Amino acid sequence: MLNLPLLAIIIIIHYAQHKMQQLKTLSDLKNFQKSIKGKTLSFVPTMGALHAGHIALVEEGLKQADICLPYIYINPTQFAAHEDLDQYPRTLEADLAKLENAGAQAVWLPSTTDIYPNGTKTDVHIDGITEELEGEFRPHFFDGVTTVVARMFRLAKPDIALFGEKDFQQLQVIKKMTHELDFPIQIIGVPTQRDKNGLALSSRNAYLSEEQYEIAIELNKILVQLAQNMVTEKQATQLLLNCGFDKVDYCVQRNSETFGAENPNRVLAAVHLGKTRLIDNMPM
Ligand code: PAJ
Repeated sequence: MLNLPLLAIIIIIHYAQHKMQQLKTLSDLKNFQKSIKGKTLSFVPTMGALHAGHIALVEEGLKQADICLPYIYINPTQFAAHEDLDQYPRTLEADLAKLENAGAQAVWLPSTTDIYPNGTKTDVHIDGITEELEGEFRPHFFDGVTTVVARMFRLAKPDIALFGEKDFQQLQVIKKMTHELDFPIQIIGVPTQRDKNGLALSSRNAYLSEEQYEIAIELNKILVQLAQNMVTEKQATQLLLNCGFDKVDYCVQRNSETFGAENPNRVLAAVHLGKTRLIDNMPM
């Protein structure tokens, strides 16, 4: 015979174990930290509008540590005035479902006053590699990223933090910051997740029309040619323009540590398609 009270208890325990906690205040975060004392913590910074690329970071985080804590925070300081901060996709309910499904034990949803208690005047600036490529075309960007991530690291105190190779220069800047500011955190890069046509998954792909999507999938193919030295940087740039991209910020072979042109081992590109800016990269 089915024992209904026992079944109800099993369901409640199962639900309680799998329910993802939402940490909305700094005291929620502190209580969570107390509750996981003695366990290892991995950390996944995101700006939401989550897709399989973000979820791959959470899955890897759960392999590398007992607990995985993603956060969702659209960081205003890494957007320039003319960029898409206001239009940045916001899909919180769907994001929470995806994180819970992936097995994250909690998600942190900080507010701007938690992150920037005295406004945004104190910056973390990393020298050198932040001036190349993305740094040249988005001069405010890396200071915004390092400022917010440093602040998040200090509050969350993870053992491990995961970042995607999709934003390869960002990953290297975070590694440099972690080393130079001596955060006791291991930074792990996770390979770029792509759709079936090779397009790197990105929250900004949602902006593409069907016609633009057909152009966007050429980016990966042209980068493969550049990575294999089948074309020069100049030829690759021309191929991108020929297939319909409106503007190419860069399409280059660079060294993955210095981001200089000597000893290149990685190809990186940033292109514009209508109002959407796409980036991609891969090893040579
Ligand atoms: P966001 O663009 O939301 O990306 C969050 C993380 O997901 C980054 O580490 C990014 O590299 C990774 N990611 C995005 N698309 C991916 C893909 N297709 N494959 C693998 N990883 C992918 O990057 C940011 O947010 C912000 O700059 C942040 C680090 C959160 C600071 O505000």
